[in-house]
Amino acid sequence: MSTPGTSTRPVAVVTGASRGLGFLLARELADRGHDLVVNARSADGLAVAAADLQGRGTDVVTVPGDVAVEADAQRLVATAQERFGRLDVLVTNAGVIQVGPAAAMRTQDFADAMNAMFWGTVHPTLAALPLLRERGGRILAITSIGGKLPAPHLLPYVAAKHAAVGFAEGLRVEAARHGVSVTVAVPGLMRTGSPRNALFTGDQAAEHRWFTLGDSLPLLSMDAERAAGKLVRAALRGRPEVVLTPAAKLGMRLHGIAPATTMRLLAVANRLLPSDETPRPPRPGHTVARPAGWFDALTALTRSAARRFHQHDDVVPPS
Ligand SMILES: NC(=O)c1ccc[n+]([C@@H]2O[C@H](COP(=O)([O-])OP(=O)(O)OC[C@H]3O[C@@H](n4cnc5c(N)ncnc54)[C@H](OP(=O)(O)O)[C@@H]3O)[C@@H](O)[C@H]2O)c1
Repeated sequence: MSTPGTSTRPVAVVTGASRGLGFLLARELADRGHDLVVNARSADGLAVAAADLQGRGTDVVTVPGDVAVEADAQRLVATAQERFGRLDVLVTNAGVIQVGPAAAMRTQDFADAMNAMFWGTVHPTLAALPLLRERGGRILAITSIGGKLPAPHLLPYVAAKHAAVGFAEGLRVEAARHGVSVTVAVPGLMRTGSPRNALFTGDQAAEHRWFTLGDSLPLLSMDAERAAGKLVRAALRGRPEVVLTPAAKLGMRLHGIAPATTMRLLAVANRLLPSDETPRPPRPGHTVARPAGWFDALTALTRSAARRFHQHDDVVPPS
């Protein structure tokens, strides 16, 4: 199927590459000699990230679109074929995160999570498989520790990430005979700056506070540039699974050995979280008022990550 104009450099498609981890994964692949086809819904956000990536001497094509829409995902992969004549690496990274108690979540929040993180993994993967099979390609499926065990106040996210883990692990088993490797990435907290665009319901200010603090604490969360390096290395080596952060590794081990105990402990942690279950329309973090002073001091790492990793204020309105 390769065209006469096939590129001599390897080519990677990265979804959700306009900011945060997706941008860093694309940058890591560029630094390892890949040309890029990058995607996100916001064309403006994507253009800023692409300009930064182009500065690293790589060929970058932007394809704005929603990976939950099959035709958009197919267009993304078709662009790699038309422009470069090949595809070596697919990274399914696009994701949304909604924070609040289960009772405050609407059916729509669950649908949004499944769309972005289950269908947003399935559609690009199915579209890319024929091209990846031509070259023994690599798939890096970004899931989450929330796809392996329950995290309180993140139920739509947890459900959608469990579905994504199931899909990626199942595909790993079947794709191997065609020479395609699937690496299931299971990160714990990384400082990508994501609290700016995460969506909050219930007591929005209090939910934003605990989530941003957790994201900022060096013992709990990991430097996102280091995480991106480890994830890309694992994918290019064809490793089956990569779990990041000591807390995530510990949680997974405990859940594997003693699931009932893990769930009891998480139920205790849940009691410490805000109790307001009012189902308010979700608001992105950058619109939620935050206390100054002590909060700014404790969350400096997250704010610095947001600035460096293109956490522009989201222009895609929450549904
Ligand atoms: N940050 C963490 O601590 C952490 C931990 C474990 C796993 N993860 C996972 O890592 C991935 C990236 O996280 P992050 O912190 O970098 O998040 P982020 O900063 O919110 O970035 C999410 C990216 O996905 C894009 N996106 C969202 N929905 C999309 C859709 N339907 N179609 C196309 N693009 C879409 C966003 O751009 P648009 O809004 O413009 O579409 C953005 O580029 C996610 O899958 C997340 O679940 C993150």
